[in-house]
Amino acid sequence: MTKFSLTTPIYYVTAKPHLGHAYTTIVGDALARWHRLMGEDVFYLTGTDEHGLKVQQAAEAAGMTPQAFVDTIAPQYEVAWKKLNISNDDFIRTSEPRHYAGVAKLLQACYDAGDIELDVYTGLYCVSCEEYYTEEELIGGLCPIHKIPVQSVDEENYFFRLSRFQDRLLDWYGSHPDAMKPEFRGNEAIGLIKGGLRDFSISRTSLSWGIPIPWDAKHVAYVWFDALTNYMSAVGYGTDDARFADWWPVDYHLIGKDIVRHHCVYWPAMLMSAGIDLPKGWGIGGWLLSGGEKMSKTTGNVVNPLDLVDDVGVDGFRYYVLAETAYGQDGDFTYEGLLGRYNSDLANNLGNLLSRVATVVGKKCDGIGPAPAADSPLAEAAASAYDSTAAAWLALQPSRALEATWSLIRATNAYLETNEPWKAEPGEAVDRMMGDALEALRIVAVLASPAVPETAQAVWERIGLTGLVTDQRLPEAAAWGGYPGGVAVTKGAPMFPRRQLPA
Ligand code: MSP
Repeated sequence: MTKFSLTTPIYYVTAKPHLGHAYTTIVGDALARWHRLMGEDVFYLTGTDEHGLKVQQAAEAAGMTPQAFVDTIAPQYEVAWKKLNISNDDFIRTSEPRHYAGVAKLLQACYDAGDIELDVYTGLYCVSCEEYYTEEELIGGLCPIHKIPVQSVDEENYFFRLSRFQDRLLDWYGSHPDAMKPEFRGNEAIGLIKGGLRDFSISRTSLSWGIPIPWDAKHVAYVWFDALTNYMSAVGYGTDDARFADWWPVDYHLIGKDIVRHHCVYWPAMLMSAGIDLPKGWGIGGWLLSGGEKMSKTTGNVVNPLDLVDDVGVDGFRYYVLAETAYGQDGDFTYEGLLGRYNSDLANNLGNLLSRVATVVGKKCDGIGPAPAADSPLAEAAASAYDSTAAAWLALQPSRALEATWSLIRATNAYLETNEPWKAEPGEAVDRMMGDALEALRIVAVLASPAVPETAQAVWERIGLTGLVTDQRLPEAAAWGGYPGGVAVTKGAPMFPRRQLPA
């Protein structure tokens, strides 16, 4: 069976899950679900980043040990992801023993390769980024991302000799031109490499909350070296060689544009040093902005995704974040936009189609869905919706995938509006239209299920189908003619009651 693995960044436990985290995790979830529908053996990984100065300081401020502190926050991510219907196959926490083993192994491998050396570091550090800056990179003396003061650091550290990897990285990306998606974000990463690479410090002596350097226990690993390794420690690196061989290299690391340097520059160089295969791909998302600023705890403009789920339902929220922004671009979150999408795409298009069809079947077909005709005028719309939906998911473009799936909903609504089955006498013509519309709805349920899994299952059941939509397999399940006919169609309450914008 083809394997497909993908990861989200692991989130810092200093903040509760917010919209930006939810966005990245929902994109990954939908993609994982799409590949499961394709019959692939999928491994979708997420987790929490629990070490480093930022966490140690937050724990101190809360009057707790770092471990007790992270133990209170990490489960909030697991709870949030359940509520958002995230189908991750594992959840890694960097405070777990399996992760310690992986980090120790990778550190040792890079050290043995001669790419880690002791040096003295003097520089400027942003605790929120857990990253060094040069004087020139600051804006008005402040961190360019968080707009907060940086600290001056002067200590003896181990350094990873990143500067040695410039040519090898450029060669590798040169021969893997599609590895980073979308392309313009990949070009930004290449620009970082071409701009010159500085060695980076991979250890600290000023901090105790971290993973000890195997050959020098006075030092703990720099949080980014530690965190990046999660992608391998979760699949057995350092603890289970056979499992690691099965699952590495990963197909996609999904990341935000803020952490390209770490994932597309540091990480592949670390892997090259250790003689490990590089990831097959990276998906680089933009930021979801709120009032034009990146949403972050430090900036204070955080939107809680769970409140939105209570408001528009889990699928209303998932649909919005997937459909609203072209992956890779920045998006601006607005409540008006959320309700606008909900009303137009979910209530007016999908909800309306389902309720129209169920009403006519109830009134004119005795509530029993007829089978579709082989030569339906909708068959072509369904085939092209499938092709475009599939191509868009493979290109990591959820908004285009949903646009393509919704084209079949629109085509079916238009077909009904042209033929007005609600005005016709019961009989062959009405049966034919209803069979076609039900078949289109069946295909829509399958194609939409990665984005809106609960809704897809509900549609599936209302049109009289049994079993789970997630057990369907593509491309077969998208072929015209799968709706059996002769099954009971249920009208039910409106699936997406229209919403008014608050005054
Ligand atoms: N812990 C590191 C990642 C280590 S991965 C080995 C980290 N964590 S984070 O919690 O600050 O952010 C992780 C990711 O969340 C970002 O890269 C991005 O993918 C996502 N987002 C956080 N805020 C975001 C927005 N406002 N909008 C979209 N995504 C953003 O960095």
